[in-house]
Amino acid sequence: MINLETEYLGLNLRNPLVASSSGLTNSIYKLEALEKSGIGAIVLKSLFEEQMMAEVSNLLNNPEGDYPEASDYVAAYVKSRSVEQYLNLIHEARQSVSVPIIASINCFSMGEWIKLAKDIELAGADAIELNIFFLNSGVYASALEYEQQYYKITKEVSASVSIPVAVKISPYFSNTITVVNGLKANGAKGVVLFNKFYQPDIDIQKLSLVSGEVFSHKHDFYQTLRWVALTSGLISKFDISASTGVHEWESVVKMLLAGASTVQLCSVLYQQGNGIVSQFITCLEEWMNQQGFNNIADYKGRLNLGQASDPVVYERSQFMRYYASRD
Ligand SMILES: Cc1cc2nc3c(=O)[nH]c(=O)nc-3n(C[C@H](O)[C@H](O)[C@H](O)COP(=O)(O)O)c2cc1C
Repeated sequence: MINLETEYLGLNLRNPLVASSSGLTNSIYKLEALEKSGIGAIVLKSLFEEQMMAEVSNLLNNPEGDYPEASDYVAAYVKSRSVEQYLNLIHEARQSVSVPIIASINCFSMGEWIKLAKDIELAGADAIELNIFFLNSGVYASALEYEQQYYKITKEVSASVSIPVAVKISPYFSNTITVVNGLKANGAKGVVLFNKFYQPDIDIQKLSLVSGEVFSHKHDFYQTLRWVALTSGLISKFDISASTGVHEWESVVKMLLAGASTVQLCSVLYQQGNGIVSQFITCLEEWMNQQGFNNIADYKGRLNLGQASDPVVYERSQFMRYYASRD
């Protein structure tokens, strides 16, 4: 009998598939539909401090506004309304959805990270995903300075709440493993590898900047796979959630073999709909059956850096041998 149950951040999931944070996880009916699809857990759309502040400044810059002296009041009201809507979503989800609900926040002021995390815990979320990203473009800023901000946020938030905290990071670090280790040392219970960001592009006819593609491609999964395998082999007792580039059920299997505790889906849900979840589950079960595995623990991490028979493949970066054989 195949059992897909898995543990992530100390939570019990019916299977390792997680709907990642996006517009598909921002309302109660979407959460209910995802639960019906068979998903194991859901990460809510991030609550962005920047977005709340933009709403505030839109209102305050409105020339129709009669009472400039009321600006502080308006700012506080608009901000608290955005937070309230988010907390209500968590609260309602707790009533009508039984899979774990992971809230997600992205802030720029320390006080806000902590306050929101506490409110989110009170509203009933099972865990928090910190969506931390600072674009490190300072000409003289050191990588360490930049990384320390991640540690500080993780430490302060983890110390302020008793629900588990995961950190979703970008692939743009000089040493991802050091950073993940630092997040663990500062109280995180897991890491999401990796977030994918808005991509700028250039329109060569109009000579202007435009938005790049929003969705990932299936080949984006290679970068995730390598870092999941390296992290899982080098950092023990720490949950890894694989994110970016999972478009096929085989990629789910590969991420688990590389050591992921869960596998997050986003672009594939947008492009193929929620029905893909049950297809992935069926294929995963069939594959486990063929391989003689009953539980995910039977093979999780079996091909990570520590356990693969040829782990050097994960550390190889140049195509020397490949090019040689193509001569
Ligand atoms: C339309 C859209 C909205 C997203 N919104 C968020 C968000 O609010 N917070 C977040 O952490 N990630 C967000 N993401 C990133 C996804 O959660 C995910 O990490 C990324 O798309 C890579 O996964 P994929 O290859 O399965 O798409 C968003 C992605 C998309 C496409």
